[in-house]
Amino acid sequence: MLDRVVSPLTTSREPVAPPRRLQRLRRTASLRDLVAETGFTQSQLIQPLFIVEDPAGAGAIPGLPGNARLSPGTASAQFERDLEAGVQQFILFPVPARKHAHDFDPAFICEAIATLRRRAGEDASLWLDTCLCSYSHDGHCCLHDARGEQDLPATLDALAGLALAYAAAGADGIAPSDMNDGRVAALRLALDSAGHDLVPIMSYSAKFASQLYGPFRGAANSAPTHGDRRRYQIDVRARRDALASSQRCAAEGADLLMVKPGMSSLDLIQPIATATGLAVGAYQVSGEYAALALLAREGFADFDLALLESWHALRRGGAAFIITYGARLGRALGLAAR
Ligand code: PBG
Ligand code: ZN
Repeated sequence: MLDRVVSPLTTSREPVAPPRRLQRLRRTASLRDLVAETGFTQSQLIQPLFIVEDPAGAGAIPGLPGNARLSPGTASAQFERDLEAGVQQFILFPVPARKHAHDFDPAFICEAIATLRRRAGEDASLWLDTCLCSYSHDGHCCLHDARGEQDLPATLDALAGLALAYAAAGADGIAPSDMNDGRVAALRLALDSAGHDLVPIMSYSAKFASQLYGPFRGAANSAPTHGDRRRYQIDVRARRDALASSQRCAAEGADLLMVKPGMSSLDLIQPIATATGLAVGAYQVSGEYAALALLAREGFADFDLALLESWHALRRGGAAFIITYGARLGRALGLAAR
């Protein structure tokens, strides 16, 4: 039965609507905890991990206290500490040693994924941020043709290639952050065609062009060398665009949606959830976390209390889950495990 439903996807490049696989988010205890709607627990906080291919690039991240760039060798030790601290959700950011124009090679991160996956069992989920900007020469989230115009087919192919490699290595979910048109459909089709029909997609669906991504771009080596991201990320004034972008991600088969930056998108979480029927998370981005840390460093706020306050505000706004650089502090801040 399942074969018959899935088989058209393997024989056609037509955008066939995939069967709605509600089971993806029921598959492990950790994923079920992720979408639970009552209470507010550490299982609903997602911890970013930056994994750098070049061990010489490992070390503290300016602006993000408590976070570091990890080499594949040191990632396991950090992962172990985080599991012991009760972290259940991780999002991995691969940072290759060299940047290229195309033909990106994710081998280093796939090894790390496989290692962490073996250790995690059902205790944790590994989400993979899927974008091109840390791999690409020019730091953009899309590829360009010889005339310098966006090359959408090549972009979607490159994203699909990375997603397939991540899934084959053991990623629990794919999180496309690039904001290019059609990416969710392309990734869903590619994943289903390769037998990864139970790998969910957490789409960065309402991602605004923002000044608040600064510390991240240093850590991920992803700042654009020319121009900015306004041709693919959403204008802060464009509420309709943010809703439409999220509805399209849902229609293309996304399992989870996200707003970003979190605190400046509070007005959108509930409307997106209502319009799509999907769980909508919030990304407390690097600049938001860094702002709280700077306030605290200057003596204007208590870091732990400010962090908790910001999480509760996101929760109040309807966030089903929160990506935050402070996820590993959850238990210490008094959150229940699940
Ligand atoms: C890459 C990506 C970015 C973030 C997540 N994935 C940066 C960007 O779009 O420039 C931002 C995260 C943060 O600031 O914490 N596409
Ligand atoms: Zn990107």
